[in-house]
Amino acid sequence: MINETISRRQFLHRLGALGGAGITLGAMEALGLSACDSTQVDYRAPSPEDFSPKDGAGVSVLILGAGIAGLTSAYELEKGGYHCQLLEARARPGGRNWTARRGTSETALDGSMQACQFDEGLYMNVGPTRFPQHHTTLNYCRELKIPVHVFGNQNADAYYYVEGAGPPSTKRIRFRAVQADSLGHITELLAKAVNQGTLDQDLSAADKETLIEFLRSLGALTPQNRYQGSPARGYRAGAAPGAALQSGTIDTPLALSDLLALNTTGGAFNLGYFLAFQYEWEQAMPMFEPDGGIDAIPRALVRAIRGPIRYGVQVTHIENTANGVRVSYQDQRGQSGQIKADYCICTIPPQVLRRIPNNFSAQVNADLSVPIPINAGKMGLQFKRRFWEEDDRIFGGITMTNLDILQILYPSHGYLGQKGVLIGYYNYTPTADTFGALTPQQREQHALNQGSKIHGSAYRKEFETSFSNDWRKTRFSEGSWINWPPGTRGGPGTPYARLLEPAGRVYFSGDYLSYAIAWQHGAFESARKVVMDLHARVRASQPLQSNGTTASRRHP
Ligand code: PHE
Repeated sequence: MINETISRRQFLHRLGALGGAGITLGAMEALGLSACDSTQVDYRAPSPEDFSPKDGAGVSVLILGAGIAGLTSAYELEKGGYHCQLLEARARPGGRNWTARRGTSETALDGSMQACQFDEGLYMNVGPTRFPQHHTTLNYCRELKIPVHVFGNQNADAYYYVEGAGPPSTKRIRFRAVQADSLGHITELLAKAVNQGTLDQDLSAADKETLIEFLRSLGALTPQNRYQGSPARGYRAGAAPGAALQSGTIDTPLALSDLLALNTTGGAFNLGYFLAFQYEWEQAMPMFEPDGGIDAIPRALVRAIRGPIRYGVQVTHIENTANGVRVSYQDQRGQSGQIKADYCICTIPPQVLRRIPNNFSAQVNADLSVPIPINAGKMGLQFKRRFWEEDDRIFGGITMTNLDILQILYPSHGYLGQKGVLIGYYNYTPTADTFGALTPQQREQHALNQGSKIHGSAYRKEFETSFSNDWRKTRFSEGSWINWPPGTRGGPGTPYARLLEPAGRVYFSGDYLSYAIAWQHGAFESARKVVMDLHARVRASQPLQSNGTTASRRHP
């Protein structure tokens, strides 16, 4: 019913376009960033000492949107004594940072309503969930005292499930077997090439010898440089109690042609990409997620912010005035109002913002129309028994497939418990739109059918309830993240670069204005940039008094 055929190139392009740095390494190098340098972001929060006592406190900032970028803007500006208030269209903070649990309900843009029925204590992260060690997200978890645990982004015992490839033995296969066989076959071929003299132009005799040593260890080759399987791919049978050795029943490795056939089955399956995923800049282990749900982050920010946050308020007009900003809105009761402030930080996603009347220049409005919203969908499935742990011995991690569900993510918390919620699908444009077109019930049935191919009858037998989301159909988001078309997200003169500059006194912020699109890190970093820019402007507008403190409260 649901079918996705994309070429490998398109697949890589799409992931690259997300900002997946693993695939855009060239861009990183061009910026002269080594992996660790890019974590050393030069950021200093505004501080009251930057002003004479009254001045910082005199500046008001109206923040549109209480997602990560908006909340962070308020949190950082308040460190410097700014007066912040936030308007949020939803009834909750967090934006795409959203955890569904019992009590969560959502009406999609197509009118379909879901009420989450998970048991108390069970949840799914509908948007972001994982972040790597080097992301600013982890700094905020430290600062805000948000406990985190390791998110299993990789599990050698999770499956690859590939329909339509080679012999039946390749259909469902443990990641460790694919990995060992890939390394084995590739190293064997390379050793052969070295020994046949093919690489004599490239290698000294000494390097050839060292390389062969290296390949033998890497690929578990025999002294004759042959790959004949490896314990790394797993044993067919366990060892008997008291056995001196793990029994030697290593499964026969896949033939090279069967291994390669995994790649030629259509769908979003890309063997090289999936194998290399664990080495990516942003996807390498260990990764983290907050205890109890990703919304621990916005909740902690809300607790830390002093200024008011008004929920259920939709912005209807944004205006630069002679010496400030004026924003019109409508609240839940349909009541309209206006707020004036010295500055505004607008974190409304561009695809939504561009429909809101404003007095920005034509250029700004044109630039806001450039980013293309794309989509992602997820479904949480609650099971009354953690069969993936009990039957498959999979504790966290991800099963990758060439089915339209793309992947199944096993929970990285609640191990050994009775029930659990796993992510039954997490897919992107265009498959996500196909799922989004279904009713929640149809999505559920489809996800159960697909999952049953991998996990058998337990998948239906143990199933209890589901919750799903399609970001394109989600009010106030209308997409999972955005894509900058080629050439629009570069240096000076590109729409991206222009939107980094304020439109009058309105600053734009969000992950879409960062190098880390589709990551909370991008929203944090974008907010910090805007806070620094705004603060520098405010300070510059305050002439120094003779005693060295700043005096004026007038801002240009
Ligand atoms: N950050 C999101 C995730 O990790 C989206 C993303 C997917 C970004 C894949 C890059 C690569 O799921």
